[in-house]
Amino acid sequence: MHREKSVYAVVLAGGSGTRMNSPTPKQFLMLGDKPVFIHSINKLLSEKRIKQIWIGANGDWLSLAESQINEYIGSNERICLCEGGDDREATMLNTLNALTSENTIGDDDVVLIHDAVRPFVTSRIISDVINEMDFCDACNVVVPVNDTIVKSADGKIIDGMPSRKELFAGQSPQGFKIKRLLGAFDSISEKERKQLTETTKVCFLKGIDIHIVNGEFFNFKITTPYDLQVAESVLAFVGQDA
Ligand code: CTP
Repeated sequence: MHREKSVYAVVLAGGSGTRMNSPTPKQFLMLGDKPVFIHSINKLLSEKRIKQIWIGANGDWLSLAESQINEYIGSNERICLCEGGDDREATMLNTLNALTSENTIGDDDVVLIHDAVRPFVTSRIISDVINEMDFCDACNVVVPVNDTIVKSADGKIIDGMPSRKELFAGQSPQGFKIKRLLGAFDSISEKERKQLTETTKVCFLKGIDIHIVNGEFFNFKITTPYDLQVAESVLAFVGQDA
């Protein structure tokens, strides 16, 4: 008998947010009437095909994450919290390992990996990624780049000008077949893993085709104090329910 794929989500909330220059990591700062990561979780919760949402946070901030979830969402059996890791990919792996230790994972089961600090992800993007996962093992959300991108190894002189029409900027959530993703991580060295800044790269290195789904320019990652100000304006413009 055919078994429907199960869909899970991982929310990466273990960063320290150095570039935000705030004592509290940016994912726990207020955006409108709720913390940044709560916006992200709410968008994932509204997709009913997502069975569980696992949130990876670090050390002292784990209890803040828990209390903010209790305050702004309340008790919800689809939400699970666990310890993150030293970098983005370590948080992703620790959280994914916690998820797989509590669920029996089939070959077609899928995880959506989302940055906690992309609060403007839309229901359309989430749904498109889940649908695309019927046709691939990995999938990224991208937008075309509007600026001309130049390359410079020394930061002083341009040594490359790639064609803009072939360039896209990656966003999240990224979709993966859970078993393929864990298999790809198993086959790289710890040194290679430490060089990864984003999860689709491991699939690219292992020759797994990565499909693309259209993102939105406003699905940006909050990185600096300027981004948080822009986010307040975007919230006023698009509202909570984009
Ligand atoms: N992230 C994580 N665990 C880490 C590092 C990052 O879960 N150890 C998450 C962040 O919380 C964020 C996403 O990965 O949702 C992207 O992180 P990024 O903004 O690039 O890094 P931060 O560590 O949060 O910020 P900074 O680089 O400015 O220190």
